[in-house]
Amino acid sequence: MKDFGYDISNYTAIDPIFGTMDDFDSLIRGIHDRGMKLVMDFVPNHSSDEHEWFNKSVNQEDPYTDYYVWNDGVIDSNGTRHPPNNWVSEFRGSAWEWNEGRQQYYYHEFLKEQPDLNYRSEELRKEMENVLTFWLEKGVDGFRMDALMYLLEVEDVTLDEPVDPDSGTDDPDDPDSLVHIYTTNQPGTFQVLHSWRQLIDQYDEKMLMAEVYSDVNDVMRYYGNDTYPLADFPFNFFLIENLLNRTDVTGYALKDIVDLWMDNMPAGKWPNWVLGNHDNGRIASRLGEDLVDALNMFDLLLPGTPVTYYGEELGMENTFVSWEETVDPEGCRWGPEHYQEHSRDPERTPMQWDSTSMAGFTTFNSTWLPVNPNYLEVNAARQESAEVSHLKIYNALAKLRQEEVFVKGVIAFPVITKEIFSFTRSLAHGDMYLVVLNTAEEEVEINLHHHSNFPLPDTATVVLRSLHDDSPETEIGSELSLDDVAMVEGGGLVLQLP
Ligand code: NOJ
Repeated sequence: MKDFGYDISNYTAIDPIFGTMDDFDSLIRGIHDRGMKLVMDFVPNHSSDEHEWFNKSVNQEDPYTDYYVWNDGVIDSNGTRHPPNNWVSEFRGSAWEWNEGRQQYYYHEFLKEQPDLNYRSEELRKEMENVLTFWLEKGVDGFRMDALMYLLEVEDVTLDEPVDPDSGTDDPDDPDSLVHIYTTNQPGTFQVLHSWRQLIDQYDEKMLMAEVYSDVNDVMRYYGNDTYPLADFPFNFFLIENLLNRTDVTGYALKDIVDLWMDNMPAGKWPNWVLGNHDNGRIASRLGEDLVDALNMFDLLLPGTPVTYYGEELGMENTFVSWEETVDPEGCRWGPEHYQEHSRDPERTPMQWDSTSMAGFTTFNSTWLPVNPNYLEVNAARQESAEVSHLKIYNALAKLRQEEVFVKGVIAFPVITKEIFSFTRSLAHGDMYLVVLNTAEEEVEINLHHHSNFPLPDTATVVLRSLHDDSPETEIGSELSLDDVAMVEGGGLVLQLP
């Protein structure tokens, strides 16, 4: 638990703090009985330093000797030993750790307790195939593959990575200071991924998602192509990477993000939109509570798979976590001055179920991370019983997206301005919906007819509107004139066209 599950000491067991293998088996049955799927997080880049493979590798017991990335380092003219290169861990500081037992350095892209596995070892590759097979035989429906771009490093580890002149930092311990040409997206990574795809495809309907934060051209390589299939999709993190704060959210910016993905995605592939996850701040805090419903409309009604994070359906906010309470190793490694810029604890606090003590998350009197003090207002029970709420809108969107027009319908963009982002979804001779979002921090009135780059009907029926919109014109079911649409700050409307 050095990185809360991303440091695995046994790839085919359940950590007792979460339950037993019997519990897992009944979980998967329960999920399948309800017509749902279970996708496992697979962490192939590194294990825990407590994995028995690592101990055996330290002791140079074959075949484990080469299961990790070992190197003697270099000795300078003063006789002092240094790591073989300047590579920096994602969690800051040198990516090499000296091991007394083996008298060599080992490479770790993340914590020193997360040594990188060596995919140049054939035995290791076989071992990881067995891990995938183990879970596939248990009936899991696919994998989210963690930190995939780091899977292999360049073979010659004497090579330094170049300093990034545009990084804005001269801190050599900051991973942003280097251009990661030798530690990311190496050719061998795609070969290994392809072999996993082939293995997974021996089973029916299994999905493979790749976690890759990289520039768009490299990200797209993880889709592969028809003759060389890889992931079903690499995560589209551009809603996170390109929207850092409220003022970044404009009609143009949202359109640019859609285009960035759609224009670069290989033909015939399926898109996805990641709004949040356990490594990034919550939407309501990063971008603004006013935008919660509008962005959920964007996420759930565009073509492709929406990727969402627990609590986003309620508009949960980041929780303040003091330095003393901070547990995330990434936050801890940056120290009391900078932990708030790097810690992932604020978005990892307990799910806010109801208004009882501990937000209904536990009957115990304390939690691993503090419960957000706003839980009395922001919780699932309250939003379920309210007449209107983020949760009710989210549920309605989840239902709506199952309609054929949102599964197969083509997309077009009638009006894009600085304030407004809009799209239609339509079937050749059938349904047509129009989704309109106001990204501005103020009310905006818009003549959609006037601005549209293709003809729109005069009126449309309101299907959904965002929480803070209580105008009589936009009541659900009413006919709205597209000549004069008043949108609340950060608001969204889903309209059905005649
Ligand atoms: C990505 C995971 O999402 C993150 O939480 C973790 O720290 C790193 N990979 C390392 O496994």
